[in-house]
Amino acid sequence: MLWDTSLAVINLLAPNRPANRVVPAGHPGFNGEWPEYVPPKEGDSRCSCPALNAMANHGILPHSGRNITFKELNATIRTTYNFSPSFCYFVPNYAAQMLSRDYSTDTFDLSDLDVHNGIEHDASLTREDVAFQPDQGKPSPRLVKELLECGTGPNGDLTPADLSRISGKRRTESRVGNGQFSLSTFHKLFGSSNSSTLLTIFGGRKDDLIPFLTEERIPDGWQSRIRHPFGLTLTEFNSTVLPVEFGIKEELPWNGKPKKTKSA
Ligand code: HEM
Ligand SMILES: *[C@@H]1O[C@H](CO)[C@@H](O)[C@H](O)[C@H]1NC(C)=O
Ligand SMILES: *[C@@H]1O[C@H](CO)[C@@H](O)[C@H](O)[C@H]1NC(C)=O
Ligand SMILES: *[C@@H]1O[C@H](CO)[C@@H](O)[C@H](O)[C@H]1NC(C)=O
Ligand SMILES: *[C@@H]1O[C@H](CO)[C@@H](O)[C@H](O)[C@H]1NC(C)=O
Repeated sequence: MLWDTSLAVINLLAPNRPANRVVPAGHPGFNGEWPEYVPPKEGDSRCSCPALNAMANHGILPHSGRNITFKELNATIRTTYNFSPSFCYFVPNYAAQMLSRDYSTDTFDLSDLDVHNGIEHDASLTREDVAFQPDQGKPSPRLVKELLECGTGPNGDLTPADLSRISGKRRTESRVGNGQFSLSTFHKLFGSSNSSTLLTIFGGRKDDLIPFLTEERIPDGWQSRIRHPFGLTLTEFNSTVLPVEFGIKEELPWNGKPKKTKSA
């Protein structure tokens, strides 16, 4: 936490990288030139996370999605998306703990991350609940379309209010339609933080999110919208995530009965 806060402070004082120089030299995506996109083939492992799948689709992680080291994740999410070094350690380490594996020596396949209610949870924005979609490795065209069409910002870009609104809708729809629905406060916050990357790393830009969410492809020329030298810290990220989460209103109370509406 102290490490993260220090990086957040340095980020505030240090100049941003130029928009076309966010990815460091020598790494995939330098100058907006991403390795070739190859959609997943039969037998490749994919997961519920669009960002990790996109890295595998471009060969930044092994295209098979298998035998990935946690260290490799740390290094590649740093250079690909410009998360802070603290974030890049925290999340893979959290994943290793969830899988009871050793961060420094063990490997995983992308689909291993889909342990239900480990990180993966119900009411996601791009996947049907696991009760309806056992293979969480592919985006749901219905949900992605709905998400991409909900933006009210300039050019249809996504805003924090849009994410709160659509998350509330998803939670209500899952709670009513999925007999096995569960979502702890913890997973609500995960959900909001995962979806808030669409606002931070992607700046909510619809044009970029179309290929990213529908094909899990990084658009040509794209670089992270976070341009701080030490990337997106947990401290900075919280200032997006918390308003999104607190802005979520479910359309029904927890007992599933319609709310009493005031008569006009
Ligand atoms: C490095 C470690 C990471 C791990 C272990 C991880 C894991 C996951 C998992 C398991 C989910 C599914 C949660 C759910 O049920 O909705 C998820 C969702 C998501 N992740 Fe990641 N992720 C990582 C990094 C990233 C990065 C770097 C980004 C963005 C640049 C990102 C963006 C997203 C988004 C947008 C979702 C939400 C999809 C939805 O709501 O359907 N993730 N992640
Ligand atoms: C993963 O690594 C193990 C051990 O190093 C090896 O036996 C296996 O063939 C590898 N699998 C893939 C898909 O590369
Ligand atoms: C994370 O990756 C960076 C390189 O990007 C490396 O310097 C650092 O030692 C790695 N940290 C861990 C804990 O693996
Ligand atoms: C996604 O959620 C997991 C836990 O559910 C969390 O560890 C991780 O930080 C989140 N990823 C992002 C990019 O917010
Ligand atoms: C971010 O917010 C969460 C939830 O309130 C909190 O547990 C965490 O400590 C915060 N992290 C930072 C770095 O501010």
